[in-house]
Amino acid sequence: MSSSPPSTPFFLLLLFVFVSSSSFVSSENLPVKALVLPVKKDSSTLQYITTIHQRTPSVSLTLSVHLGGSYLSVDCHDRSFISETYRPLFCRTVQCSATRSRSCGTCNGPARPGCNKNTCRSLPENPFNRLTLYGEFAEDAIMVRATDGSVPGRLVTANRFIFACSSNSLLEGLAKGAKGVVGLGRSQVALPTQFSSKFGFNRKFAICLPSSTGVDNGGAIFFGDGPYNFLPNMLDASKYLIYTPLLVNPNSTRIGAGDTDPSYEYFIGVKAIQVNKQTLRFNTSLLNIDRGIGGTKISTVNPYTILETSIYDSIAAAFTEESGLSRVGSISPFEHCFDGRKVPMTVVGPAVPEIKLVLQSNSVVWSILGVNSMVEPKPGVLCLGFVNGGRHPVTSVVIGGLQLEDNLFQFDLGASRFGFSSSLLRKKTCCSNFSIKVDS
Ligand SMILES: *[C@@H]1O[C@H](CO)[C@@H](O)[C@H](O)[C@H]1NC(C)=O
Ligand SMILES: *[C@@H]1O[C@H](CO)[C@@H](O)[C@H](O)[C@H]1NC(C)=O
Ligand SMILES: *[C@@H]1O[C@H](CO)[C@@H](O)[C@H](O)[C@H]1NC(C)=O
Repeated sequence: MSSSPPSTPFFLLLLFVFVSSSSFVSSENLPVKALVLPVKKDSSTLQYITTIHQRTPSVSLTLSVHLGGSYLSVDCHDRSFISETYRPLFCRTVQCSATRSRSCGTCNGPARPGCNKNTCRSLPENPFNRLTLYGEFAEDAIMVRATDGSVPGRLVTANRFIFACSSNSLLEGLAKGAKGVVGLGRSQVALPTQFSSKFGFNRKFAICLPSSTGVDNGGAIFFGDGPYNFLPNMLDASKYLIYTPLLVNPNSTRIGAGDTDPSYEYFIGVKAIQVNKQTLRFNTSLLNIDRGIGGTKISTVNPYTILETSIYDSIAAAFTEESGLSRVGSISPFEHCFDGRKVPMTVVGPAVPEIKLVLQSNSVVWSILGVNSMVEPKPGVLCLGFVNGGRHPVTSVVIGGLQLEDNLFQFDLGASRFGFSSSLLRKKTCCSNFSIKVDS
């Protein structure tokens, strides 16, 4: 067995690939394969929050996570933003077009971050209080941790990262201490696409949200390819993923958008819903996206899944029947609560009927077990952790926080597919078992 040295053209090609992919390497000159952000759950708002470093000199920012958000929006009001590397985005630049901004603005008064002349206007959204407010788009350095898929590594810098610099009303309704919102949507300037173009990895990211609000219980958001190795055995949780296509809703779902862009949020094609083996009967056209109305999206804005009334009623009726539990008074926002005193606890939560979202075929099923379907608002009472969204919501099914926790989800924008693991507890691990204690 002998191996011949690579021929010259091949060697040059390798050199070229190395040089071009290393144009955004970290200070240690190693390519970055993936990045990781820590995620915590805020106990009072139930929002998921993360930490990113920004500016020169750098400051650490707590930010609320908006899965379908279009970009990073940061509070810039009142001279609070100090940075040597801040640059406003001027109108009619390539970067301004990437933001899809349609307006140009001028701020009178001394130039400072958030107040410059002839800048690309942003419309940062705060999905938690449904406000939009004007600001200017800008670029600045941000620093996040690289990862090998097992542990958080060194801080690496993404220079000239585009974000919206906005007034402080952005902060109303956000978790305490939050200074803005990170958008993970499918736009050109949301985090997944900016990171993949800056570091040269695939346009892919994964979220693993924690179920507990304890300070030591953090989940992770990964950008780039796996592995995503979790304790106790450092098993790669990407092996558990099952895939379904990501769908594009042609109508914008941004708050106050009035724009003609497609939605930057993530929609999937749920075809049917089952409770145990019972397939629910409701008008399944509600599950299709028709001129922007209907369909199923994934959102980190709502702590619980919100269902159009007829879908809610049919799940609740089937669940009540299948569980055989007796109902007790409702506890807002939940309508269906039960006497849970005799329900056995398992590693995957209370032993209750399984709720299944059937995707493109009967073999592609997202299972929702007790830990992701039930809430215990007081001892001995278990409520079905879904919320009745009324008769004519824009989106029929908005899958929210409780149903996402301790599951791994991968959003592969290049291949336009969505991977889901169902509960990691069934695999004897959980989202806070990615060792991310090294944050900040
Ligand atoms: C089913 O829902 C669709 C979309 O909301 C509606 O247009 C249609 O009339 C409904 N069909 C029935 C039989 O109710
Ligand atoms: C979605 O877009 C289509 C085409 O622009 C329009 O006719 C329709 O009214 C929009 N739907 C909503 C809910 O805005
Ligand atoms: C998380 O990892 C720890 C330490 O390796 C292990 O003891 C624990 O069982 C794991 N958690 C879950 C939910 O499996």
